[in-house]
Amino acid sequence: ATPDDHVVVLFGATGDLARRKLLPGLYRLAQAGLMPAGYRVVGSAPTADALSDEAFRAHARDAVTEFGGGEPSKPEWERFADALSFGAADPDEPGPLVAAVRAAETALGGGPRRLFHLAVPPVAFASVIGTLDRTGLSEGGRVIIEKPFGTDLASARALDGIVHAVFDESRVFRIDHFLGKESVDNILALRFANGLFEPVWNRDHISHVQIDVPETIGIEGRAAFFEETGTFRDMIVTHLFQVLGFVAMEPPTSLGAKALRDEKDKVFQSLRPVDPGHVVRGQYEGYRSEPGVAPDSDTETFVALRADVDNWRWAGVPFYLRSGKALGQRRQVVTLHFKRPPLRMFDTAWASGGGRGNALVVDFDDPGWIAADFLAKEPGPAMRLGPARMTFRYADSVQLRNGLEGYERLILDAMLGDQSLFTRSDGIQRLWEVADPLLRSPRPVEPYAPGSWGPASVDKLVAPHHWYLPDMA
Ligand code: BG6
Repeated sequence: ATPDDHVVVLFGATGDLARRKLLPGLYRLAQAGLMPAGYRVVGSAPTADALSDEAFRAHARDAVTEFGGGEPSKPEWERFADALSFGAADPDEPGPLVAAVRAAETALGGGPRRLFHLAVPPVAFASVIGTLDRTGLSEGGRVIIEKPFGTDLASARALDGIVHAVFDESRVFRIDHFLGKESVDNILALRFANGLFEPVWNRDHISHVQIDVPETIGIEGRAAFFEETGTFRDMIVTHLFQVLGFVAMEPPTSLGAKALRDEKDKVFQSLRPVDPGHVVRGQYEGYRSEPGVAPDSDTETFVALRADVDNWRWAGVPFYLRSGKALGQRRQVVTLHFKRPPLRMFDTAWASGGGRGNALVVDFDDPGWIAADFLAKEPGPAMRLGPARMTFRYADSVQLRNGLEGYERLILDAMLGDQSLFTRSDGIQRLWEVADPLLRSPRPVEPYAPGSWGPASVDKLVAPHHWYLPDMA
């Protein structure tokens, strides 16, 4: 399917997200021939950060060069740059934005759709939506809202009220770019398109699940955002819980937005509210001296916790989630650990097989890979067991070369009006309920050394199990 003609309005066009992901992403979509036949991208920001059309094009070109795989080729770039313009907007001075949108619509002719991407800090959502309402720009348009959607249950409800007063739910696209990652989407294919895995995908066979997303980067100058947000909201309540939804859900009746989101949201309904006693909050040493960070900041840059999905498929199977900044390695991995079978006949300890036993590893960092770790007989006269692995690598798969990054895929879906991979109001609200006990009584942050795996107490959290983060063999 190709989207209808579009005017995409990018709020926060001079910000970090636009530079790293959205401008390179839109360019990539254009290059891949996936943008609508007619489209314009109008950048917007408060008047204080206003750019001329020319300066915005240069800004976008720099972003594409730095984060979109290098210098764009001249003819392709020029075609894309022609579609870019800028319109500043303040709540009491939206004139330039309105003019830029109208000019873009006139250039396209034929009544294109409007898509507003709110790549702005959460505190600015209400004001931008107010502007869209007062200027009438909201009419018939769709809106992409960045995470985190609210900071707790009350603020998420309030934000829903503000959004729904202007956009009905069918036009609201709450974005979580992890759900646009090929390998996260592939969890649905792995589970539901195969007879091999799903029959053992439950508490009868699985002992525990790990969703592990360590990052090496620090806060990269995002102190203002990060101090308010912290890793629990930024990564766990948004991305990691969403991935957990895909890992834990029942088979949906279809991949349509309603069926898929109903099943994911049922998982969230079954999640037990987080027990602060099963949470480790950490802060990397040096965080408090980052520019813009309070010298006595209690904001966490690391979280590990145990989540429990209390339903018939998963009761008793802990889900261990971990994410943090300034850690030893960047990874995005789900592992399902299988129960130990009876091994008496082998005269060998489970641990002698490398200690890892049976695990299914889903590495969902682009391009991603999947491995099944199991025990095999070591060649020789004796029956000795050793670790073995079967691997699927996305990078080897020819037909997957056209893969899109999370944001690219999702912006395309929003233009197509497909909400399947966007989060829904009720699901988000439930996740804030689940988060509530920790938000109310956060445990003190424990310091950890940059480049480590977080505070030492993370090992106790998973005992008698161990964190398992295998490299691609
Ligand atoms: C963002 C978070 O949503 O996701 C960042 O705000 C985090 O803190 C990033 O670094 C990770 O995304 P990616 O694209 O590197 O997988």
